[in-house]
Amino acid sequence: MPWHRKHLLTIEELKRSEIEQILATAGAFRRILDRKVKKVPALRGKTIVNLFLEPSTRTRISFEMAAKLLSADVISFDAAASSTTKGETLRDTAQNIQALHADMIVLRHAASGSPLYLSKVLGIPVVNAGDGAHEHPTQALLDVFTMREKLGDLKGRKVVILGDILFSRVARSNIHALTKLGADVTIVGPSTLVPHWFESMGVRVSHNLREALADADVVMLLRIQHERQGSSHFPSLGEYTSMFGLNYTRASWVKPGAIIMHPGPINRGVEIDSDIADSDRSVILQQVTNGIAVRMAVLYLCAGGQPEHVLTPVE
Ligand code: CP
Repeated sequence: MPWHRKHLLTIEELKRSEIEQILATAGAFRRILDRKVKKVPALRGKTIVNLFLEPSTRTRISFEMAAKLLSADVISFDAAASSTTKGETLRDTAQNIQALHADMIVLRHAASGSPLYLSKVLGIPVVNAGDGAHEHPTQALLDVFTMREKLGDLKGRKVVILGDILFSRVARSNIHALTKLGADVTIVGPSTLVPHWFESMGVRVSHNLREALADADVVMLLRIQHERQGSSHFPSLGEYTSMFGLNYTRASWVKPGAIIMHPGPINRGVEIDSDIADSDRSVILQQVTNGIAVRMAVLYLCAGGQPEHVLTPVE
């Protein structure tokens, strides 16, 4: 089946078959990453602009690596040194970048829906690198890629997402991806951050950590997203950690063979203790590495590439 999307805006809008296409394409790029020569000419002559208007370490560098490995030219926008500080709007900024002959924009922005908005006012592909508390599609894609690498088919697998679900774009994108792939998702944390209305997304809501962890195949931690919380949702960070932080004792409630994930950045000693984040069960850094292959796949497909052209080995 040919790939037909120009933009990657949300996981919600993707069909399961499209997620499978991205993951299969990412699998081919992941194998290329293990070769001595990792660079392929797929996007030679294209210019990709990383328009990040919120801080990022992993996603920005990963998109930059991915674009360079596809032989594209990459410009990473420096928000602090840009004319956005003089009041230029997102629309004007992006239209000027397009007028400068960019072929694609990768956008991170605090406003939910901003990638959709740009996709309507620009003529070039837009890739969502995280919009407010709405979605972070490439994070979810690299997460499910990593789960499948470790556990195989996700149908019936029990995935527990623990932490600040309410303000998390990672949680929303993962819930869409995991439920489409047949996983059984439980979200857990304090009731103020894990409200029952999330059940309408097809997940189980729990406030009982021990019970939720007991049969998990995957435990995904999320940090408290202070940057999006207008007011306090629990008495103190110390109290949150004492009730929901993943420490050595609580990790022992998780069955052997289960994996521990975190999208980063991690707050050691808050949502996760160092001895768990750095343990053999943690796949946190493998998530980061797989992110390059997933973003290569997304850039390649949104630029008009077809999955079948990379699914055969490139020598
Ligand atoms: N996971 C993630 O989005 O990390 P960054 O904010 O560092 O990009």
